[in-house]
Amino acid sequence: MTPQDNSVARLYRLAQSARSGQWSLERDIDWSRRPRLPFWMRRAQARRALSQLYHGEMATSRLCEALLADPTEERYEVRSCLGLQLQDERRHAAAYQRYLDALGGIEPLDDGLQRALTAARHGPFGNLGAMLAYHVVIEGELLRLHGVLAQFLPCPLLRDINRLVGRDEARHVAFGKIYLAEAVQALSEAERRALYAWLEDLWQKAAQGVLNRRRTNLAIAAFFRRWLGGGWTRHAQALDRLGLPATSAREQAA
Ligand SMILES: [Fe+2]
Ligand SMILES: [Fe+2]
Repeated sequence: MTPQDNSVARLYRLAQSARSGQWSLERDIDWSRRPRLPFWMRRAQARRALSQLYHGEMATSRLCEALLADPTEERYEVRSCLGLQLQDERRHAAAYQRYLDALGGIEPLDDGLQRALTAARHGPFGNLGAMLAYHVVIEGELLRLHGVLAQFLPCPLLRDINRLVGRDEARHVAFGKIYLAEAVQALSEAERRALYAWLEDLWQKAAQGVLNRRRTNLAIAAFFRRWLGGGWTRHAQALDRLGLPATSAREQAA
């Protein structure tokens, strides 16, 4: 079995587990419960933070649609994984939308995140760059955020949503690792370096945007500083495992 056959088999297995792991908003979540926030958090703050998750899900569904519309990607196992991911992302967005409706509605996407998502979609590396940015950087962050939310927002309804969403996201990250490692292998050394530098720059700008925002709640401001401190190192390790060398943007420019 060649490594490529092996990745085909792994993608088939992932698609199979995505099919059997489909859950339903109505059947699997008890919506008779109301959102429960900690005493120190205002509803508007919770709405703003959770709305970013909703917009992230919507942006990821749009990326899946664009990838599925690409006629050059003909592999059945890849298209199956992407099609199932699209269903997952739409379901995730619907779950967060329903939760946010109970909190008073969806807030707009943060400007910095909007810029990062637009830059990720329209960068010089086309769909491959967009997938890398979304899968490694954005979905990786979302998975981590779910863990933190479970700790800070002890809301049983949100915990149930995040548990189901997190299970799907872990599968999307697994798909990204298989698909992207192969795509990265096909690039030249110079292209890999440039791609790495572009991703690092994208993440640093988004992180700076999040850090520079004025916050009245000091606990939340401190939380974001801790969150982003050393954040790129984790992504650099993930990118390294995909075959992208850890070259900093500064070295790239030198
Ligand atoms: Fe999602
Ligand atoms: Fe996802």
